[in-house]
Amino acid sequence: MHRPHAARRQHLLNQIGAGIALLPTAPEAVRNADCNYPYRPDSYFLHLTGFSEPEAVLLLDGRSGKSVLFCRERNPEMEIWDGFRHGPDGAREAFGFDEAYPLSEMDERVPELLDGCERLWWPLGRHGAFDRRVNGWLDAVRRRAHAGRRPPAHYGDLCSLLDEMRMVKDEAEIELLRRAGEISAAGHVQAMRAARPGLYEYQLEAELLHAFVRRGARQPAYESIVAAGANACTLHYVANDALIADGELVLIDAGCEWQGYAGDITRTFPANGRFSGPQRDVYEIVLAAELAGIDAVRPGAAWNAPGDAALAVLARGLLDLGLLSGTVDGVIESGAYRRFYMHGVGHMIGLDVHDVGLRKQGDEWRRYRPGMCTTVEPGLYIRAAADVPEAFHNIGVRIEDDVLVTADGNEVYTAAAPKTIDEIEALMRGEQT
Ligand code: GLY
Ligand code: MN
Ligand code: MN
Repeated sequence: MHRPHAARRQHLLNQIGAGIALLPTAPEAVRNADCNYPYRPDSYFLHLTGFSEPEAVLLLDGRSGKSVLFCRERNPEMEIWDGFRHGPDGAREAFGFDEAYPLSEMDERVPELLDGCERLWWPLGRHGAFDRRVNGWLDAVRRRAHAGRRPPAHYGDLCSLLDEMRMVKDEAEIELLRRAGEISAAGHVQAMRAARPGLYEYQLEAELLHAFVRRGARQPAYESIVAAGANACTLHYVANDALIADGELVLIDAGCEWQGYAGDITRTFPANGRFSGPQRDVYEIVLAAELAGIDAVRPGAAWNAPGDAALAVLARGLLDLGLLSGTVDGVIESGAYRRFYMHGVGHMIGLDVHDVGLRKQGDEWRRYRPGMCTTVEPGLYIRAAADVPEAFHNIGVRIEDDVLVTADGNEVYTAAAPKTIDEIEALMRGEQT
């Protein structure tokens, strides 16, 4: 079970030479009074350990090649109240660390290990409290300079190494992402089946959550967007408290988190099960843009290729609808399309819904490699305005899938959520698709 994590730790150890890497998990967060938010470990930490208890710290020692965990001790009293803890011995055994110690031993053990190491890697500046602890450990080494102790002379941002690793998913991660995509798609299907005019948006949100949780995905990967009618033109609409009217489209952007990995799907469908003429016109343009974007996700393609492909289709469509005038190149050049399409076409996805990884290396766009995962999510958002034909007022459409780059193309692993007009209308009529 811990083999992929051990392999990732080894990969990192190979890169840090005679250095040491320190990585804390995320702190717990108070929601109110004595209630916490549901605990979510840090994504980098999860990537290297699979260990999900709070307060833990991973140390990788490049000189000995060892991975060491510091974690909470077993505590029969606390475990009666809050549940099982692995404790150091249990965690070492279950997660394959070389050594594990109680948190209380960090102040003694970490300065010992830092002595004489060339470079210290940690998530520089990301956790204020942890930065202060690191400073304390470095100080402890410096204070013993008279005894020949030597603190590291160089420091590095551990995230810069981990971001590169996380950008290309290994087999174990791909399996988890596929399952996140599958469960997320099941949520969209359940919401589409339940949809009808007269429901509140949050009643469809409940369908999503029900589908996720009953499959073991206990949290959404981000706040679900359930936006009916004009609300779909607000990109990050999360109020989800409006009544859904007959004749409106409903835009749902939602995905579950499955064992730390995010799904991220958007579907747009008619509340009453039938697209109107203008809704159909806008929808077909966005769908064609999405398909063009997906087609451009392939190994060797530049990061911006899907965005350019989708934008060309959207621009053509806006001209055909009469919402813009001029030429495709002209409206792209001038940015006139931004009135109706104002976000990027996608983002890497993984442990974080907006996953890590730099899109450019120097001035060059990165190129897709097998194992990278990205979303493709073009949209058109047509607000009511005097210069826009009334038939298009308040139509907001986005279609989003999650796409794995494969050796010879791509795999859309969220495809189980229907997206052609025929498929959506058939599903909403209650037909099996
Ligand atoms: N749901 C966030 C996004 O699509 O990027
Ligand atoms: Mn989304
Ligand atoms: Mn997205």
